Amino acid sequence: MARGLILGIESSCDETAAAVVERGTAVLSNVIASQVALHAHYGGVVPELASREHLRNIVPVVRAAIAQAGISFAELDAIAVTEGPGLAGALLVGILYAKGLALGLGKPLLGINHLEGHIHAVVMDAQARGPLQFPQLALVVSGGHTHLYLATERNGAWSYANVGRTVDDAAGEAYDKVAKLLGLGYPGGPWMDSLAAHGDEHAVKFNFHAIKPREGEVETRFDFSFSGIKTAVLRYVRAEGMQDSIAARQAMLQAEPERTAPQSVELCDAKTLNLIASFQGAVVGNLLRQTFAAVDHFGARGVLVSGGVAANRELRRRFLGEAERRNLPIAFPGTGLSTDNAAMIAAAAWPRFVAGEVSPDEMIATPQLRLGASTTHSS
Ligand code: KG4
Ligand code: ZN
Repeated sequence: MARGLILGIESSCDETAAAVVERGTAVLSNVIASQVALHAHYGGVVPELASREHLRNIVPVVRAAIAQAGISFAELDAIAVTEGPGLAGALLVGILYAKGLALGLGKPLLGINHLEGHIHAVVMDAQARGPLQFPQLALVVSGGHTHLYLATERNGAWSYANVGRTVDDAAGEAYDKVAKLLGLGYPGGPWMDSLAAHGDEHAVKFNFHAIKPREGEVETRFDFSFSGIKTAVLRYVRAEGMQDSIAARQAMLQAEPERTAPQSVELCDAKTLNLIASFQGAVVGNLLRQTFAAVDHFGARGVLVSGGVAANRELRRRFLGEAERRNLPIAFPGTGLSTDNAAMIAAAAWPRFVAGEVSPDEMIATPQLRLGASTTHSS
């Protein structure tokens, strides 16, 4: 092993990404071709379009990652690619390309779980400040996932237990759906984040019901549910007769697609801003309570928050405050590493590469790939 250079490739959803990371910590390049503008037109990711765009982007994106890292393909020590979870056709583009590249270059190939990648996006940052104490409690909160993992490490190898997950929508999905419902831009998370700062989070009360254990579940779980709050927002909108102002806002934003969230405060009345702030306060509060209840239950010695929603300013503020109060280390992804990227895939591959792991030739796209064992008997 020369420099410990891993090329990461990520294509599980709507970003085609490639990155070169040295020894799991130093990001030499991190190239992302986003399809957001393409899917924005439909208000969500269209799987067939995503696959086609990945096909178009994969070669130039990988070439750019190698060039920006200032290395040659021959200098790579391994290639890592997202194996799942994600969209089958989208994953397949990255996997087939990575397989061909690995074969052609004679380099080992490692299939990586996208969720392990998100966790390692934060580990990179956290480890730069000193060694981590285990176990760590990892919250992965994005548009497709809301999971709590208890992460442990032995001889450099990480293992995970799933101790909580959403039983319906992911938190980011709830953000996106509510934003759409209120006539805001796509993806909705950053819009809500920006506009919430102008509202009163105590204006509208939202309740989260405790998730009852499913049959066969024996251990304590810290599960989430975000579909109820989406329905509650819809009911509030109807009860308060907000539909006309929503339609007007939607038309305005369609006519001016360049308008950003901060430039759209004037398009929202106080009632709308309060609703946005209240929604955000309730979602972040729920994530906070479940995460720190799991920290207490398992005696976690640090918290790692990752995924697209980890960019949320209110979430960061409240999680930081709570961790500080408990004198508990907490880490978030660095710039450009909270949403989908390939540096996190290369970083997660590093301990596996060091341990001599190689994926079998039969590795295929696994849309429902799970990370670690679940702490319950349920499927
Ligand atoms: O991790 P990611 O890029 O893709 C998935 O694997 O899902 O996460 C995207 C999600 C979207 O739902 C987006 O609205 C949300 O992360 N998001 C945010 C913020 N930035 C992105 N949600 C709340 N506040 C933000 N600042
Ligand atoms: Zn993701």
